[in-house]
Amino acid sequence: MSVTLDFADMSVVVVGGTSGINRGIAEAFASHGAKVAVASRNPEKVADTVKSLEGMGAGMAMGQAFDVRDPDGVAEGLAAFHAKMGDFDVLVSGAAGNFPALMSEMSNNAFRTVVEIDLMGTVHVMKAAYPFLKKPGASVVSISAPQAFLPYEGQSHVCAAKAGVDQITRTLAMEWGHEGIRINSVVPGLIDDTEGARRLVPTEEARRQALAAIPLERMGEKADVANMCLFLASPLASYVTGTVINVDGALYQGGSGHLSMQMGKMLRMTAGSKR
Ligand code: NAP
Ligand code: COA
Repeated sequence: MSVTLDFADMSVVVVGGTSGINRGIAEAFASHGAKVAVASRNPEKVADTVKSLEGMGAGMAMGQAFDVRDPDGVAEGLAAFHAKMGDFDVLVSGAAGNFPALMSEMSNNAFRTVVEIDLMGTVHVMKAAYPFLKKPGASVVSISAPQAFLPYEGQSHVCAAKAGVDQITRTLAMEWGHEGIRINSVVPGLIDDTEGARRLVPTEEARRQALAAIPLERMGEKADVANMCLFLASPLASYVTGTVINVDGALYQGGSGHLSMQMGKMLRMTAGSKR
């Protein structure tokens, strides 16, 4: 059997697509000739990404600056994309915020901030994109995290938010399946050269310990996650929906123990030294 994958005519929207893993996803579709749109808060990051997508061979590249916490901004931004690129073949919802902090040391607003970006941001993106999704045919991807199913010390806010993201994925697979829309969560492993990895594995020692816990014995690359999104957008994945897929070198099979305990210890020491 020979399989040819063609993304050239696709309209792809990546929310939170201006850095790290999500930008890698946008660039992967662009390098296959797709029309690609990205959005995030910072207009300079948006402009820089659009320029890069054009240089990589995107059929069309565009961007909008909005905050996923603002439902009206999300709705206006996605409508602007739709006006230029037509119905969305692919929607990736990946905007997120994270910082390590113990529940006892974080303000209610700190917790709420992460829930509003990760969870309510996902709600705003899904609701605003729904009228513009190709029916049948769209592939929707939520970029999730292991915090959705593994507890990590110092991550109660992200754990609560990303668990909600995965349940939205599962529920929408049922609500939207009859219209031919597929939706899946992709859970990146520890991905090298990203803001998430810099925040959660901030020292050489932490990185060394994390590496030792990855059965495939390497950190992930942005392209590893992007390749999964290409697969999910392709006919090869036409019966795949409502699932949560790890792209992690089997890191999460080992649970959260090593990283969680290390982070908890460090945060408790810092909290103790403040008292
Ligand atoms: P990143 O580079 O910080 O990417 C986050 C993106 O979201 C940026 O484009 C950022 O751009 C945008 N963003 C943040 N807050 C926003 C808001 N309120 N409204 C709109 N856009 C917003 O981080 P990353 O490490 O690559 O993480 C990307 C995704 O992968 C996240 O969903 C994260 O949970 C997940 N993940 C990462 C890892 C990892 O190893 N890095 C592991 C597991 C899961 P602006 O600053 O311009 O808004
Ligand atoms: N520890 C404890 N609380 C923190 C914190 C930390 N490291 N960083 C921020 N907060 C608190 C702030 O003090 C504030 O609470 P307060 O009003 O009670 O003081 C609240 O969180 C909101 O902070 P603010 O800086 O106003 O939020 P923001 O909307 O400007 O930025 C963040 C959102 C905090 C999530 C910021 O880190 C961000 O923009 N992240 C995006 C990039 C990212 O996290 N990438 C990794 C993805 S995995």
